[in-house]
Amino acid sequence: MLMYGSFLQDCFTKVNIIKYNKVTSTMDVAWKLLTEGLHKWTIIVAEEQYKGRGRHGRTWASPKGGLWMSLIVDRNVIKEVPLNMYPLIAPLAVISSIDKIYNIKTHIRWPNDIVFKGKKIGGILIETSFKGNNIEGAIIGIGINTNITNLPIPEADSLLRITGKKIENSRLMELIFNELVNLINKSHRDIKEKYKARLETLGKNVRIITTDKRIIEDKVVDIGDNGEIILEKNREKIDYFSVIKLTYMT
Ligand code: BTN
Repeated sequence: MLMYGSFLQDCFTKVNIIKYNKVTSTMDVAWKLLTEGLHKWTIIVAEEQYKGRGRHGRTWASPKGGLWMSLIVDRNVIKEVPLNMYPLIAPLAVISSIDKIYNIKTHIRWPNDIVFKGKKIGGILIETSFKGNNIEGAIIGIGINTNITNLPIPEADSLLRITGKKIENSRLMELIFNELVNLINKSHRDIKEKYKARLETLGKNVRIITTDKRIIEDKVVDIGDNGEIILEKNREKIDYFSVIKLTYMT
């Protein structure tokens, strides 16, 4: 069933792609454009970021070679494709694009890390802005270690190191956007199933630090409709925005 077909087709054909050599963060540029009243979907992409950021203000190393992009989702798009869909569809779009270009099977470490054999090769940052209860817009930042050889930390890896393959970042970026549009046209149930099938966190014992400073240790037994993890004890739900850190317990 085509749920959002024509609207998003329209967005897709009119998508703006704005390229930069070097920026602080593509998130900063995207927010500036969004507040200036940009409409429909726009992608900001930069070869290098000197203040790249990850979730909860962490630094995101963004040297030349990687794919650093932000997708502007203004409130008109959110009316059609609600906010709770993005934590599910964004990582799925990334892993299915990686499947296609590199032919390797990456997984999602909840909420949004893209991992291969336990090492992080990409991340997704979803930022939102509200006026009162009304959503103003969201920015989906995607960072992927594509053509990089020097990794900042031992827990990270790159697709070039894993596969030996150097790719055109613009090709990967377009594929991700395409996959995103394809996914939006799928039923919510399908999306959730696809997400669960690639979620390595499912069934794991985890330790979570929440934004309200709680430390929870529990087993992840399911995924909620909005991509929340559901924990074994009391079937408590934890969503994307309220987790600072999640680690696996051995
Ligand atoms: C994370 O895993 O913490 C999310 C990392 C998101 C990084 C991307 S790179 C493009 C965009 N610009 C940024 O400064 N951050 C995101």
